[in-house]
Amino acid sequence: MKNILVIGATGQIGSELTLKLRKHYPNGNVVAGYIKGAEPKGELLESGPSELVDITNAEQIAAAVEKYNIDTIYNLAAVLSAVAEAKPQLAWKIGVGGLYNVLEVSREKNCAVFTPSSIGSFGHSTPKDGTPQDTIQRPNTIYGVTKVTGELLSDYYTKRYGIDTRSVRFPGLISYMTPPGGGTTDYAVDIYRSAAKGEKFYCPLKPGTFMDMMYMPDALRAAIEIMEADPQRLIHRNSFNIAAMSFDPEMIAATIKEFVPGFEMEYKLDPLRQAIADSWPNSLDDSCAREEWDWKPEYDLKKMTEDMLKHLSPSAKEDKKMEKAICVE
Ligand code: SER
Repeated sequence: MKNILVIGATGQIGSELTLKLRKHYPNGNVVAGYIKGAEPKGELLESGPSELVDITNAEQIAAAVEKYNIDTIYNLAAVLSAVAEAKPQLAWKIGVGGLYNVLEVSREKNCAVFTPSSIGSFGHSTPKDGTPQDTIQRPNTIYGVTKVTGELLSDYYTKRYGIDTRSVRFPGLISYMTPPGGGTTDYAVDIYRSAAKGEKFYCPLKPGTFMDMMYMPDALRAAIEIMEADPQRLIHRNSFNIAAMSFDPEMIAATIKEFVPGFEMEYKLDPLRQAIADSWPNSLDDSCAREEWDWKPEYDLKKMTEDMLKHLSPSAKEDKKMEKAICVE
């Protein structure tokens, strides 16, 4: 039986991962940890227990771990890259101080810990194409600094205390469910929302800005599969490169046009996001994840685009509303 605490359960990844974990471990307890002002609602609230767990409060983490006999913590609390530049102290407090609290509680209560890292853990001095698993990590964003620190701290707790820490470096994540907030890769979510509404999209990044991206179903599967991987096979832990697709704004716009011929995009650059994107790799080499725990993505750009637009189309939204109305009656 698995008893899991998801910290940041109402965020971009957490709101979908919590539901998936509850289906994946039907006999376990999957606790949705949330902060004030971001309480779980709807299916997330109704499908399992939830607790107020602020990652900056070690006592709250320990109390939830104790109450539900937690054996695994998914630590998804984070401030994304662009917002982190505006609030570096908060990014450190949550990204590093929060992780320290999680690791300390896990040391005392013997929990396994998953903490995502990111393509943002790399910087200008990293090889940009086919970025290797083990390479230079000298990011110049506070987001990246917290991610590299998190990777090192997690590995340290495994070596020093035997805590089972594991992680993947997520690419930009794309989903039709919970919108992201404050990231550099978010344009690749917003573009679909504009296309589905028949609106023109103003792209904050210039043509030729390549970054790794991934459809949320693949990302959720990665988060579960890495924690289920045979530890004997793991040479790496914190953190594995994983990849699914790499594109620039021109490529995603052209793919959307195949489904929405009238779609229009204009460039309106955001210098902060452009500078951050320019410091990140174009595409990661994920061969270690493939070798050590059989990682394999299912969605490419075309398959993801088709699915995103299907779910975001006005008729799909109407169907959802109808379903809800029928359920309520
Ligand atoms: N999606 C994140 C961001 O753009 C990167 O991991 O900040």
